[in-house]
Amino acid sequence: MSTGIREIPLSSPYIDERDEELVLEVLRSGRLSLGPTIDRFEELFAERVGAPYAAAVSSGTAGLHLLCRLAGLASGDEAITSPYSFVASANCAIYEGATPVFADVDPETMNLDPAAVEAAITERTKAVIAVDIFGYPCELDPLRAICERHGLVLIQDACEALGARYRGATLGSHGPSAVFAFYPNKQMTTGEGGMVTTHSEEEWSLLKSLRNQGRADGGGWLDHARLGFNYRIDDIRAALGIGQLEKLDTILSLRSAVAERYNDLLRDVDGLETPLADDADHVRSWFVYVVKLDPEVDREHVIAELARHGIASSRYLPSIHLQAYMRETYGFAEGLCPVSEDLSRRTLALPFFAQLEAEDQARVVEALRSILS
Ligand SMILES: Cc1ncc(COP(=O)(O)O)c(C=O)c1O
Repeated sequence: MSTGIREIPLSSPYIDERDEELVLEVLRSGRLSLGPTIDRFEELFAERVGAPYAAAVSSGTAGLHLLCRLAGLASGDEAITSPYSFVASANCAIYEGATPVFADVDPETMNLDPAAVEAAITERTKAVIAVDIFGYPCELDPLRAICERHGLVLIQDACEALGARYRGATLGSHGPSAVFAFYPNKQMTTGEGGMVTTHSEEEWSLLKSLRNQGRADGGGWLDHARLGFNYRIDDIRAALGIGQLEKLDTILSLRSAVAERYNDLLRDVDGLETPLADDADHVRSWFVYVVKLDPEVDREHVIAELARHGIASSRYLPSIHLQAYMRETYGFAEGLCPVSEDLSRRTLALPFFAQLEAEDQARVVEALRSILS
């Protein structure tokens, strides 16, 4: 039904003429896949995040799956992860036959609580998959220390956090292998796509083989050294990725400015909490703008009223352990992760993207103010 009001979407990619040119160049070159544009994209990405090696893949999910394979996860193993995340950060362990174990999150950072992770370790635990939710860096050093103490592999799901900094260094540069994602709502996009960063040359070589049907470096097209997947990105997407990387700093500062503007406008709006501010150890890369509604606020009413004003919003995020397939397969139920469950009932994503106009933000905030008053 058209209301005659201009709709404000939840997200929107930032694409310019340079992106179009780079994509066209690849289309005209005839090298659409397994070409040099992918190598260049990987080099530039590795340089940007400060990782020695990067392997481009077809999605963030594919990258996480490959890291679970490299961690040696298998049936009978457990992988501890965050319930307050997108499903892929748990699914990747299940693909390898492992059982997901959910440790609760911190109510402020919404990221894994290291004490809860430590408490969830059993003799079957093999890996911890830590997520930088909404672009806010997870507690990397404590989590690394726990993993080292217990001989566990740490996988960093940085799919939402390109450009974020933990203790002064960009995510991807710290050591644990990390995955970034480029779906169109992300800080930068390739349409679909992802990137794995690693500090191990051996792991890098395996990643490139596993994403390419298990082919070995220098081997023939029909020679397969191991069981692999088709998790390749193509040169068309890689070209778009290069265009996006070239302007990533601009995109990130525009997104920060949009977030700042929301923070200012929402300061005197009752009934909600704005996102956690950065501190000396954590510098967020803005992925989404998620507010926490007060417990007594009827979120469904807010969503419906915003929609009536032509404003998109989303329940962000449901707790993974309470998804239908998780309940059915593992018997998870309410009460397993109370902090995550409380967040899941109260959090709401507002329209957020680099080119969101100030006047549209004012419209969102005025609508919220009137709904919540
Ligand atoms: C935290 C998190 N992990 C993993 C993914 C998966 O990325 P993709 O959609 O590229 O497979 C996403 C993206 O939606 C995400 O937000």
